[in-house]
Amino acid sequence: MTIKFSRREWLAGITSASGLLISGSPVSAQNFMEPNVNPTAENPIRAHFNENVYGQSHKAREAIASSAKDSHKYAFRDLLALQALMAKLEDIPTKYVALGAGSTEFLEKAAVFNAVAGGDILLPIPTYGDLARFGRTLGSKLIEVPVGDDMHINLDAMRAAMTDNTKLIYLCNPNNPIPSIIEKNVLKEFCNEMSERATVLIDEAYFEYVDNPNYESMISLVKENKNIIVTRTASKIHAFAGMRIGVCYAHPDFIKRSFGMFTNSLNLPAMRGAYASYQDYEYQKFLKHKNKECQIIITKMLNDMRLEYIESNANFIFFNAGRTSTEVAKTMKKHHILTGRPFPPFKNWVRLSLTKPEEMKYFAEKYKEEYS
Ligand SMILES: Cc1ncc(COP(=O)(O)O)c(C=O)c1O
Repeated sequence: MTIKFSRREWLAGITSASGLLISGSPVSAQNFMEPNVNPTAENPIRAHFNENVYGQSHKAREAIASSAKDSHKYAFRDLLALQALMAKLEDIPTKYVALGAGSTEFLEKAAVFNAVAGGDILLPIPTYGDLARFGRTLGSKLIEVPVGDDMHINLDAMRAAMTDNTKLIYLCNPNNPIPSIIEKNVLKEFCNEMSERATVLIDEAYFEYVDNPNYESMISLVKENKNIIVTRTASKIHAFAGMRIGVCYAHPDFIKRSFGMFTNSLNLPAMRGAYASYQDYEYQKFLKHKNKECQIIITKMLNDMRLEYIESNANFIFFNAGRTSTEVAKTMKKHHILTGRPFPPFKNWVRLSLTKPEEMKYFAEKYKEEYS
């Protein structure tokens, strides 16, 4: 297997995608799945799990299908090849990269290491819940810091809440369910300062969707700082949620120490598929472009209806429905549209995954029918 694109070319592809016109597809050659504009109970619009409902790229699907003939083998070579690709794409030596069965594997390991060290976990609330769940299961103390009045993660409040026993800090950037970002310089300062005292884990699950000059990945800090971990996932833009591939960027000391805890036994079709998908820059451009179209459709609906929302930096949006998210979910389910679960304390806020423009138009039509 050969790596065909440099990181610079890849970044150039992503950057130029952000400048694409909103009408018309830049990838007309691929025959993508039809949008679901006649949803049924058996085949609803899936706007509840932040999946990529377009599915995997054709190149990834071909790689997955053709991998069946090799799937009786242990996949050590594939693991090394994918690890090398992930390192190359981020311009970081391979020894800083580990692969897992989804990025959740790393959240779990971080929680385990923290619990073994008897540490507290500092994290914002609301945020992606798995790390807190692991911490709770392991008996760790959770220090949950509410987001600010602007609904952004409040780093000053987190600094103030830090205890001497905090050994793990979790930040999801962009956050989930609130798709806000932390300004890059403010975040860098926080990471450098706090990593003197604890491990800082930055979960960048939605990194590929961000198109915001104030955003930056924290992978560049990993090389300089032993206590910073960045996790990424193939579950979102690469549509590998059911295939399970996650990536962890961390100092080699952490990677080595964790080696005995990672399964290091990912499935071969998933790795072959991911290897193809991460080099399918055209498909990623297409998906970013479609996600932008969805954002425009939904923000127009929200503006028309004068509903408050948090600008999306991901493949979902969070809006104040003025009624409970449970009620909205129940109503939209009648139209065979699934929306996000409740995210306390924001009981009137709905998380809506941005699926396909045609599906978002359908959602907007039905939502207006119900609530205008
Ligand atoms: C912020 C965040 N991190 C991690 C995950 C889990 O990712 P994976 O499928 O790689 O385990 C999700 C899934 O929704 C997520 O939203």
